[in-house]
Amino acid sequence: MSSLSSGLWTGRVRRVNGPVVDVVGLEGVAMFDVVAIGASGLAGEIVGINEDVATAQVYEYDGGVAPGDPVESRGEALSITLGPGLLGGVFDGVLRPLEPDTVWLTPGRNGDSAAGMTWRFSPSATIGAQLTSGALLGRVTEGEHFEHRILVPPDVAGILEWLAPAGDATSSQAIARIGGVDVALSHRWPVRRPRPARSRDGEVRLLRTGQRVLDLLYPIIRGSSASVPGGFGTGKTLLQQQIAKWCDAEVIIYVGCGERGNEMIDVLEDLARLRDPRTGGALRERTVCIANTSNMPVMAREASIYTGVSVAEYFRDMGYDVVVIADSTSRWAEALREFASRTNQLPAEEGYPATLGSALAAFYERAGSFTTLGGSHGSVTVIGAVSPPGGDLTEPVTAQTRRFVRCVWSLDRDLAYARHYPAVSWNESFSRDAERVGVIRAQNGDTGWAERRSFALALLAESERLESLVELVGAAALPDRQRITLRSAKLLREAVLQQDATSSEDAYCGEEKQAALLEMVLAIHQRLLKLVDAGVAADRLEQLGLARVSSARESGGPEDVAAVTAVRDAVLALLGSIT
Ligand SMILES: Nc1ncnc2c1ncn2[C@@H]1O[C@H](COP(=O)(O)OP(=O)(O)OP(=O)(O)O)[C@@H](O)[C@H]1O
Ligand SMILES: [Mg+2]
Repeated sequence: MSSLSSGLWTGRVRRVNGPVVDVVGLEGVAMFDVVAIGASGLAGEIVGINEDVATAQVYEYDGGVAPGDPVESRGEALSITLGPGLLGGVFDGVLRPLEPDTVWLTPGRNGDSAAGMTWRFSPSATIGAQLTSGALLGRVTEGEHFEHRILVPPDVAGILEWLAPAGDATSSQAIARIGGVDVALSHRWPVRRPRPARSRDGEVRLLRTGQRVLDLLYPIIRGSSASVPGGFGTGKTLLQQQIAKWCDAEVIIYVGCGERGNEMIDVLEDLARLRDPRTGGALRERTVCIANTSNMPVMAREASIYTGVSVAEYFRDMGYDVVVIADSTSRWAEALREFASRTNQLPAEEGYPATLGSALAAFYERAGSFTTLGGSHGSVTVIGAVSPPGGDLTEPVTAQTRRFVRCVWSLDRDLAYARHYPAVSWNESFSRDAERVGVIRAQNGDTGWAERRSFALALLAESERLESLVELVGAAALPDRQRITLRSAKLLREAVLQQDATSSEDAYCGEEKQAALLEMVLAIHQRLLKLVDAGVAADRLEQLGLARVSSARESGGPEDVAAVTAVRDAVLALLGSIT
């Protein structure tokens, strides 16, 4: 965007309708070309061409733009600058830097984040070598720890004619010449075009979120995709923030679309404060935030998710595992709807354009685990929140999204009201990755993972069925075994599935502790069943205080298996003494 002022073509504004501007006189302009509108050069994108009138959607507040204002195009699709300087930064939907404290953008301000900054480049390729796209040219260290690999950009290949020696370079300065083409630390990329990779590699590797309900019941693998649908205030943002903070990906791209600006600032502050358990650096050093909060122009939201996934692919190409989080895709879809209505498109369901499904697919289908052009392995995992109005899971954005994702982590209003957090529903959620995760877990030595998962899901389903009976006949009318089922399901919910994001002991849970907690509930359940089978009254067992089982998750640190084992052994000993 930085050189929009050097336009190839100049036209004039003919009509302004909110964020949609009709332009005349841009003869050579093509669909999706970027334009600069008015004296301050507001960024827009051509989304329709009808004979001599081109229609642009404007990515910023366009109050003051009037018919007759100049419009320039340089014949480039909406593109971003990818290079060092993105990590730890906050950007708008078209990757222009924002002030982190206010998440605010000066209208018309262009340019890439790293302009003016210098980086210490360490070369690692041989002059004279034949290089393909994706080959390693050298490295730059970002923050204290992050190895930013500088690769031959897509679309460039040939003999390495010149490579800069070790030393400082700015982002746009040439550091290599390949087949006659100068290559800098950064390069431009059109956001709507998936970055090329050699192939999808079909690798199955776990993505550990540290959230028990996800890792134990609805797990996800690297390169997969998930949707988090949930009504107002059910905990979508908090769950996604937990994943951003604790999952074991190497890079996080956090896209806030139309959400509250102060939430975005909270995330940034948290990430700056929290330490990365693997590197010891601040978590923020491996995070890129793209913010289109509710106080920003609606149309930039439309681009933001493609921008986010392009940045993710850029790090994937270096061989990293990246997670893209989008909160919320419903606010993003509102931008599509607004645009459809302003351009008089024939609306499909509920005013959304007929292209809603393909626009969602263009986002989620960029997830995957890949062999990169350079021959390493990297992945992009995409997780998008959906906020269905009134919690209606059949509305178009929620329903369409389900078609494209492998996991649905559906948040339940009743669970949230009951302060059961995270409110992930066991009726509406699913993971198409679960079976493959079971195989991987078994290969890694945890042969009981799939069985424990089945046990937990069966216990939840059975207790749900019994609870509707209890409403009719009362708990006392149930047979003793069924009363134990209800008791154990309650333990399962309280001791394992609930997880307090605000507790330093519980916000994150290591996988061995996860397994130990679930295994404890399973062992207690079996012991309780044995006791009723031996004639002990369920009444008596229900009166046993098992509060320490429910609080085991918060005793000791996130990895403290011994604390859980101690509780388990003590409770089993207590049950063993009952005759
Ligand atoms: N895991 C959790 N631990 C503790 N509290 C939680 C947890 N999840 C959600 N909450 C509570 O629920 C509140 C609402 O959560 P959040 O803002 O994430 O909801 P949301 O679905 O994003 O809401 P909106 O629809 O407004 O975007 C939080 O402020 C917090 O009090
Ligand atoms: Mg939210």
